[in-house]
Amino acid sequence: MNDLMTFSKINIEPAERSKIHEIDFNNLVFGRKFSDHMFVMEYEHGEWNEPVIKPYGPIEVTPALNTLHYGQAIFEGMKAFYVDENTINIFRPDVHHERLNNSARRMDIPETDYDIFITALEELMKLDHQFVPKQFGTSLYIRPFIFASDDLLAARSSTKFSYYIITSPVGTYYSEGFAPVSLTTTDEYVRAVSGGTGEAKTAGNYAASFLPAKKAVQDGYTQVLWLDATEHKYIEEVGTMNIHFLIGDTLVTPELTGSILPGVTRRSVTALAVEWGYNVEERRISIDEVFKASENGELKEVFGSGTAAVISPVGLIHHKGSTINIGTGKIGDFAKRLFDEITGIQYGKLEDPYGWIHSVEI
Ligand SMILES: Cc1ncc(COP(=O)(O)O)c(C=O)c1O
Repeated sequence: MNDLMTFSKINIEPAERSKIHEIDFNNLVFGRKFSDHMFVMEYEHGEWNEPVIKPYGPIEVTPALNTLHYGQAIFEGMKAFYVDENTINIFRPDVHHERLNNSARRMDIPETDYDIFITALEELMKLDHQFVPKQFGTSLYIRPFIFASDDLLAARSSTKFSYYIITSPVGTYYSEGFAPVSLTTTDEYVRAVSGGTGEAKTAGNYAASFLPAKKAVQDGYTQVLWLDATEHKYIEEVGTMNIHFLIGDTLVTPELTGSILPGVTRRSVTALAVEWGYNVEERRISIDEVFKASENGELKEVFGSGTAAVISPVGLIHHKGSTINIGTGKIGDFAKRLFDEITGIQYGKLEDPYGWIHSVEI
């Protein structure tokens, strides 16, 4: 691999015409519109080549592209926030990059250097700062991804890879207040198995979850609550978020067993709960324990955590014909406190004693 640490600047081909006028900042649809520029770096002959930032646009691939057939592809999902006319805050880029490299190792994709990653993000923020929406609750979604780019129908690791970062302005998740989500388990499908790819952010994990997710919606639930693949007993996570249970004054979060995606928001939630003096347990938690805690009146709150919504209150869980209702149809006090603290830090309204923010001066 190149000595990537030596790159301090990335070559930039600026867009000739900005697409900023195409963005309706009052009606932002997640992942539909993209900023003017994208970061690109190609890997071949055993090393990453010089990176470049160029105008966002279509890429040409051949029908034999490895990724299209075998799915050797990984990605990240993270956000940047408008603070003031001179400052954009990126939330925990170091942890997102660490996870990108963890995913890379599992999927036999070459790792990338943090120096390049953070420089790319800084340059993209500077070039496309107009695309960062200003209203509280809105943000610039950042999507780094790496995919196999051999043009060869061979079911083995690619020798070429393409690394991109694209960004997209996104709206408030909670424009109409916090609507609690409803979850259902499924005994027909599993998301990830021990020794599989569950803890990697890789394309196939998502592809495999779409059908069960669609069925859950058809049955009237928002998303699937995944249970472990071996015993169908222990709670793992939800479609694109981790899950947490406030039982009495203990925050219980399913432990990372290898089949759960280690969420960056999850990590922030447990860190804050420790800081605030709650008992924090990361351990296996069965669906039966959650139903029992509900019956005993000890289940105070259930909520998901993820980059998209930060905190999503869960109002109902269905499992094998039984249903429990949680809370009063509103976000719980603890979940609200977490939401306020995390978003406060993200938008630069609260101090960041944890070093979670990477500020970019634009
Ligand atoms: C499967 C899955 N679990 C959990 C999460 C939450 O992770 P994060 O907080 O890093 O967004 C995500 C979202 O990225 C996800 O896709």
